[in-house]
Amino acid sequence: MPNILAIYGSPRRRGNTATLLDHAVQGAQEAGASVEKIVLRDLKISPCLEIYGCKETGRCIILDDFQRVYDQLLACQGLMLASPIFFYSVSAHTKMLIDRCQSLWVKKYWIDRVPYGQGELKRKGIFISVGATKGKKLFEGPLLTIKYFFDVLDMELSKTLLYRELDFEGDILKHPDYLQEAYEAGRDLAMAFRP
Ligand SMILES: Cc1cc2nc3c(=O)[nH]c(=O)nc-3n(C[C@H](O)[C@H](O)[C@H](O)COP(=O)(O)O)c2cc1C
Repeated sequence: MPNILAIYGSPRRRGNTATLLDHAVQGAQEAGASVEKIVLRDLKISPCLEIYGCKETGRCIILDDFQRVYDQLLACQGLMLASPIFFYSVSAHTKMLIDRCQSLWVKKYWIDRVPYGQGELKRKGIFISVGATKGKKLFEGPLLTIKYFFDVLDMELSKTLLYRELDFEGDILKHPDYLQEAYEAGRDLAMAFRP
């Protein structure tokens, strides 16, 4: 049974990205995956303090809820990450998690000395995001961030679901087609791990 981690990066519990991610989780579960959910707003995760306490072992030395997430990130086969667009970036909750994964960057590139671009991508994940405006470049910043985040996780970014013009809580419910796409993305991710 594939083990998939679903990370909710919005401060809104029932916001647009959370609803999309719920559908992706349902799709993955119905395709036979075991899904662990992480709601970042419920965790106490410090920002990266740039002290490089991780440089000996690749493990961050700040003792907070990131320690458990770190183990979950290493153990999962698949990842589903959802974040709203905040000032053309991911949410602060999401960014704090990503920055703490500098410990994994240190492990991969300083300790294990993997040449850039030569890590084996054994795992896969998807990224879900939503913004209020129509901006052509709305997702450009976060997509670069996510690309390099997935790189440190040795994960292929197999799908992105990016939706514009959704602002208020519940706006997503007017788009059953988007919810169906999220369901299918979760299902397809789980099915990708079938032998
Ligand atoms: C702090 C903050 C910053 C935001 N910045 C942007 C932005 O740069 N571009 C945009 O299109 N929407 C922006 N939004 C709107 C959110 O992306 C939008 O409301 C989205 O639907 C929220 O998703 P959620 O319900 O999953 O939290 C911002 C909202 C907040 C609260």
